[in-house]
Amino acid sequence: MNKTVLVTGGAGYIGSHACVELSEAGYDVIVVDNLSNSQMEAVRRVEQIIGKPLVFYQADVRDKPALSDIFQQHKIDAVIHFAGLKAVGESCQQPVAYYHNNNVSTLVLVETMAQFKVSHLVFSSSATVYGDPQSVPITEDFPLQATNPYGRTKLFIEDILRDLSQADVLNNAELPWKIALLRYFNPVGAHSSGLIGESPNGIPNNLMPYLSQVAIGKLEKLSVFGDDYATRDGTGVRDYIHVVDLAQGHVKALDYLLAKATDEGLCEAFNLGTGQGNSVLEMIETFQSVTGQMVNYQIVDRRPGDIAECYANTDLAEKKLGWKAQKNLHDMITDTWRWQTKNPNGYEEKL
Ligand code: NAD
Ligand code: UFG
Repeated sequence: MNKTVLVTGGAGYIGSHACVELSEAGYDVIVVDNLSNSQMEAVRRVEQIIGKPLVFYQADVRDKPALSDIFQQHKIDAVIHFAGLKAVGESCQQPVAYYHNNNVSTLVLVETMAQFKVSHLVFSSSATVYGDPQSVPITEDFPLQATNPYGRTKLFIEDILRDLSQADVLNNAELPWKIALLRYFNPVGAHSSGLIGESPNGIPNNLMPYLSQVAIGKLEKLSVFGDDYATRDGTGVRDYIHVVDLAQGHVKALDYLLAKATDEGLCEAFNLGTGQGNSVLEMIETFQSVTGQMVNYQIVDRRPGDIAECYANTDLAEKKLGWKAQKNLHDMITDTWRWQTKNPNGYEEKL
């Protein structure tokens, strides 16, 4: 019989791609999302790709009665927790909203899971928990630090989940937690169908959606934030990872947790990146050569809070989860561009 996985935030950018990969891997998927940063159209498009309906609940994960109802109605085997707010700048302006949404939702979720004896959890963490790393590539045992409220929510949640796992040891728990903390590097790209992708509200903060909106003529010019970093061309270097590879990493993490013996508890962190760093100028050049579109850009001052270089060592995920990113920068850009040209206004366009 298929295992059933509850996906919080499943209507969002990464969650929607994960629903496709989970379904294709034979999991039954239930989505809970409050649609605060997504649209129902994303769920419809996922259904179109997988060729069957998704069980969807519009609810806030902080709403305990609503969440309990879902656990009551379905026999859930595991949870992937994507739901959360994710904009670094906004988190500095509205820290309480971020702590409330991200941290309270996680607390309500794990309380409800414990109540219904569900112990397998995959959590969306971020490379932001490494702060400004002393060197690259980054391994999972690097010191953790947060440099903004968003990052602190991720760090707190990781700590909470590690504490839960430790408590199992002290309590000699019969059904210990099996938790994977997946630290994403920079997710980009879209599903190869062009049906689902990233649909940011307003002006994008992140490089790839900004770049593609300049290329399509929705935005005038890309600002390159600084060319005086100690990197090969002076611009910031990041580990861009295709969102479908990332989604498949969740399937592998789930398989890994579900294969553990019932009494075997764990809380382990894994980097999900490609292990390759690319600079902003390299991204622009590759974007231009793959799409044939010129990208108007100018060099401006550094963006406060940005770091020079960030890329992953992904050996642990390869060794333990049997996962390695398959797609290259060319794929990431081709798929981003297909999504952008087919959906110039994101999910506003109904197919
Ligand atoms: P997203 O905003 O597209 O998706 C998040 C989804 O969660 C949205 O559909 C939103 O409506 C929903 N949501 C938010 N709060 C909720 C709540 N309280 N109850 C129910 N639903 C709620 O973001 P994404 O890019 O898909 O990111 C998913 C997760 O991955 C987030 O936790 C994010 O912090 C993390 N992450 C993202 C990135 C990135 O660059 N995209 C990088 C590292 C980590
Ligand atoms: N950049 C520009 N111009 C832009 C946008 C970005 O030059 O308009 C540069 C940045 O300075 C950086 C690189 O492009 O060097 C990538 O920036 P993004 O904003 O796309 O991504 P970040 O690495 O800053 O942050 C992202 C997520 C965070 C997450 C982090 C690590 O937004 O939430 O990756 O996972 F914490």
